[in-house]
Amino acid sequence: MQKIMTIFGTRPEAIKMAPVVKQLAADDDDDETEPVVVVTGQHREMLKQVLNFFKIQPDYDLTIMTKNQRLDQITSRVLLGLDPILEQERPAMTLVHGDTTTTMAASLASFYHQIPVGHVEAGLRTWDLTSPFPEEANRQVTDNLASLYFAPTVLSKQNLLKEHHPADRIIVTGNTAIDALRYTVNQEYHHDVLDRIPADHRIILLTMHRRENQGSPMTNVFQAVRDVALANPHVDVIYPVHLSPRVQELAHQILEGIANVHLIAPLDVVDFHNLAAWSHFIMTDSGGVQEEAPSLNKPVLVLRDTTERPEGVTAGTLKLVGTDREQVGQAMLTLLNDDQQYQRITAAQNPYGDGHAAERIVDHCKHFLTQDIMSTR
Ligand code: UD1
Ligand code: UDP
Repeated sequence: MQKIMTIFGTRPEAIKMAPVVKQLAADDDDDETEPVVVVTGQHREMLKQVLNFFKIQPDYDLTIMTKNQRLDQITSRVLLGLDPILEQERPAMTLVHGDTTTTMAASLASFYHQIPVGHVEAGLRTWDLTSPFPEEANRQVTDNLASLYFAPTVLSKQNLLKEHHPADRIIVTGNTAIDALRYTVNQEYHHDVLDRIPADHRIILLTMHRRENQGSPMTNVFQAVRDVALANPHVDVIYPVHLSPRVQELAHQILEGIANVHLIAPLDVVDFHNLAAWSHFIMTDSGGVQEEAPSLNKPVLVLRDTTERPEGVTAGTLKLVGTDREQVGQAMLTLLNDDQQYQRITAAQNPYGDGHAAERIVDHCKHFLTQDIMSTR
């Protein structure tokens, strides 16, 4: 029996790894592989929300999170925490997801133990190590250490080929974010926050958390949201504020006390996905939300200067608006007032897959393990 160990630590990794964990568990009775789930606890409450919804009980939890944690702390705690677990469990391979510091450190820990790594959501690139920071470095390091690449799109496969990763180790699977939506979106959905909003109002769903946006970029965007909300009382902004103390502080400083701006706690994934489906449009600097929104036919204003998800920009669903106060305000007004442009955007095709990525990933892991490819690397 060969063990396949999934390792993740933050909300977005958990949401996009959950379909893979579920698929591995469903295949558990085949006598070939045994799943082991490790969470680092880089996030605490926001990770628990996802584990609870998907009913995932980790085998190990490193519980590393501290308030305002630094990158070197996350990295060293993950490395030291994983060492005895990898030693004891000796998995045949590990699976990591995306581009967080948990992802990068878990890949490095696996590499030190000479355990092959499968990278889910491999090959995303901005080619700019400062944006997003530190995620671009995290994913490049992870791809350098990985043995198997689950590229969500053809473009991400091409990025990996440009870096000379072997073609026979790259599989285009679609993004597991779309698989996750199949568990959550429900026509009958209702949330209390909707009771506070008149039925004829338009809802804008906002999230913003990235490290490189903390400070003046975030201030500018919040001011633009404030400007538009004050001038348009028939519009309601729902902002589930990330638990990062720096984000909490700025959001409350600029947006608190405005009747049509609702600062609420981070939402359970089922609430977030369904509110996204209810909204008129979404504003975000999140990675995962950029993948989910096209599937829900929602326009997204991306509050960043670069994106590693250009497929959505090409399809027309995502608009890179940056963080300038005037520009963000203008883009919001266009989506509120220009119906033709709005309709064009909502008709765009979702480029991120068919919702069956997890099945492909698990099939390929099993195939990889039967080939014992590592011995030839
Ligand atoms: C991390 C990832 C980022 C990802 C984001 C998703 C890194 C370096 N960053 O950024 O790539 O986009 O998660 O949300 O890996 N906190 C809590 N409770 C929680 C979660 C966070 O209190 O459940 C607070 C803590 O004070 C923590 C701080 O938020 O120190 C920042 O968390 P951290 O994981 O370091 O950074 P994120 O901005 O969440
Ligand atoms: N999300 C959530 N609750 C919220 C905000 C976001 O469940 O209040 C989900 C969202 O649907 C997406 C993921 O969290 O799947 C995005 O996570 P985040 O923005 O924290 O990280 P990123 O994707 O930028 O790494």
